[in-house]
Amino acid sequence: MTNTIKAPSAAAPVLELSGVTKQFSSVRALSEVNLRLFAGEVHALMGQNGAGKSTLIKVLTGVFPADHGDMRLNGQSIRAASPLEAQELGISTVYQEVNLCPNLSVAENIFAGRYPRKGMAGAWAIDWARMYRESRELLTRLNLNIDVTQTLSSYSVAVQQMVAIARGLSISAQVLILDEPTSSLDDEEVERLYGVLRQLRDQGMAILFVTHFLDQVYALCDRITVLRNGELVGEYPVAELGHNALIAAMVGREIATSPSTSAAHDKAGEQPAVWLATKALNRRGHVKAIDFTIRRGEVVGLGGLLGSGRTELARLLFGLDRSDAGEISINGKSVRLDSPSTAIRLGLALCPEDRKAEGIIAELSVRENIALALQARLGLWPAIGRIQQTTLADGYVKALGIKTADVNTPIGQLSGGNQQKAVLARWLATQPSLLILDEPTRGIDVAAKQEIMNEIMTLAKQGMAVLFISSEMDEVVRVSDRIVVLRDRAKVGELPGGTSDQAVYAMIAGQA
Ligand SMILES: Nc1ncnc2c1ncn2[C@@H]1O[C@H](COP(=O)(O)OP(=O)(O)OP(=O)(O)O)[C@@H](O)[C@H]1O
Ligand SMILES: [Mg+2]
Repeated sequence: MTNTIKAPSAAAPVLELSGVTKQFSSVRALSEVNLRLFAGEVHALMGQNGAGKSTLIKVLTGVFPADHGDMRLNGQSIRAASPLEAQELGISTVYQEVNLCPNLSVAENIFAGRYPRKGMAGAWAIDWARMYRESRELLTRLNLNIDVTQTLSSYSVAVQQMVAIARGLSISAQVLILDEPTSSLDDEEVERLYGVLRQLRDQGMAILFVTHFLDQVYALCDRITVLRNGELVGEYPVAELGHNALIAAMVGREIATSPSTSAAHDKAGEQPAVWLATKALNRRGHVKAIDFTIRRGEVVGLGGLLGSGRTELARLLFGLDRSDAGEISINGKSVRLDSPSTAIRLGLALCPEDRKAEGIIAELSVRENIALALQARLGLWPAIGRIQQTTLADGYVKALGIKTADVNTPIGQLSGGNQQKAVLARWLATQPSLLILDEPTRGIDVAAKQEIMNEIMTLAKQGMAVLFISSEMDEVVRVSDRIVVLRDRAKVGELPGGTSDQAVYAMIAGQA
C-alpha cells in the first residue's frame, strides 16, 4: 500500500529519494523506498525497530552504498561516497549511535574536521579561543553550560548526545538529519531542542527526524513517512494520521497500547521481605548519604532529573563504583559490593544506559552477547556450551521479539532497538534477584516497549525486585510500586506508585 499525497507547497523537494534498495546478505533492509523532504518542514521518519530508518539515512549519507535507487538534492542526482562528502553537499547528520571521540574535548568534537584557523596566510594555527567560544555559544543555545575544554567522556550519555546535536547544528546545511536524537534527554532538554529545530525550520531548513516518542512527532513534525520491514507504507501530513493510525501503519495491524502496571498495585497488604537495603550510602560528589530499601517482587522507580544521582546510585549498587561511607545489606547481611562480578554473584543485574560503551560487544554474536552475564554469574568454569547458548538466546529472541537473521549474527549488525533488547536479554538470563534497569526502553518502538514492560512486570510478580530508572516520568509513575525521589544527588522523599507525574516533579522542585 503506497499512499501518495500532494506536495505541501508548489515547490520541488529539496531532497528526493526514489526506489532506494539495500540488501545486507540475507536481509533486505530497504526495498524500493521513496522519500521527499521539503524546505521548511520537519519530517518524521517512523517505523518499528529494524524497519530500515537508520539504513536509509546511512545510504543517503554515504556510510554505505545503495544497491540501486535515485537520490536528488535540489533536482541534481547525488551519490555521497562518505559522510564527509554528504556534509559537503549540504546534509548534516546526527547518527543514532553517537559517533564522537570520547578522548577529545567537547569543543574538538563539535569542530572535528573543520577547526577554525587563524594567522597570516600560511600560519594556519588552530584558533582555540574561537573554537571554545563558538562551542560555548552553540551549547548555550541548547541550554547546556558545561566546560567545553573537558574530554567528552567525562560527561553523561545525555550530555554527549547534546554535543552530537550541537555539532550537527553547527554545520551550515540545507538538510539536517537527526536519528533518535532525544533518546536519553529529559523533557526540558527536548523542549530546548525543539525550539532550535523550529527556528531552523522557519529559516527554511529541511529536517528529517527519527524518534520512537510518538508525542514528539505530534509536537514537532509537519509530515510523516512510515517504513515497515524495509518498505514504504506511506507519506502523510501529521494532521491526517492520528496516534492509533500511526501505530497501525508502523506495526501493520491495530494494537492496544494499554499500559503495564506494577504487580503490587493489586496486591495490597502483603509485604515481602526487604531484599536489599542501604544506610547512608555515600560517594563524595556522586550520591549523598542515601537510605534505600527494595523488597522482593517490588518495583521501585527512581524519580529525578538528569544528574540527580539516579545512574550514580545504580552504579554503586552494582559495584561499578565504590562508596566512601555507608552500608549495603542483602537479606539483612552486610555486603561489600566492590565489583560487578561480586554483584552478579549476589544476584544483582544492571542493564546499563549506554549500550554502546557498557553494553554490547559489537563483533560477538547475538548468542555470545546474551550468554555473557550468565557465564559471569556461573564463574568461568564450566563454560556454557554452544548448544546451551543457542537455546538460551533463541528463547530470548522469541520472548523479546529481537529481529535478527539468527543468533549467530554479529550484534553490531542489528538495528539500535534490537541491540537494546539483546542487552536486556543478557541480564534477564542471569535470573537476578534485583534487576536494575537504567533507561531500558531507550530506542525501543512502541509495540516492543509494551511487550518488554509486560515481561518485566511478570518477572516482578514472580518475585524479582526491579529498580527502574527512566527519563519518561509517566512510565516511572505507572510501573512503580514506590518512587524514590532524588534531587542534587540526595534522596528527598518517597511517593507511592500510581501518583501523578506532577507530584514527582513537585517533590523534585522541593514543593511537596
Ligand atoms: N551493517 C549491517 N549489516 C547487516 N545487516 C544490517 C546492518 N545494518 C542494518 N542491518 C539490518 O537492516 C535492518 C534495518 O536496520 P535499521 O538499523 O535500518 O533499523 P531501524 O529502523 O533504524 O531500527 P531501530 O529503530 O531499532 O533503530 C535490520 O534487520 C538490521 O539488522
Ligand atoms: Mg535506527
